[in-house]
Amino acid sequence: AHIVTEGCINCKYTCCVSVCPTDCFREGPNFLAIDQSECVDCAMCARECPAGAVHPSRAAPIGSCHFARINMELAMLWPAVRARRDRLRCADRWRSVRRKIHLLRI
Ligand code: F3S
Repeated sequence: AHIVTEGCINCKYTCCVSVCPTDCFREGPNFLAIDQSECVDCAMCARECPAGAVHPSRAAPIGSCHFARINMELAMLWPAVRARRDRLRCADRWRSVRRKIHLLRI
């Protein structure tokens, strides 16, 4: 399955949602999570994300492995999102910021 990683935090472009064939994205206040039981690994979301935040869990960037568990846990809490929305305000500024996991809101 694929996972959403740190780059999504405070951006939430949601381009990923519009191409997902299985509606496996779940939406929180400033991050999306993937329900890994529904993801079919098509990888279309990874190609669409302007923040480069989506990766296959087996090939997550160094330092992002813990996002597999974070996606799993948050996907159980959050509602499905099936349509693209406006990105968050300041998304373009936050896109290049690294180390922002402390800003993840539940
Ligand atoms: Fe997040 Fe990228 Fe989707 S920023 S909402 S994973 S397009």
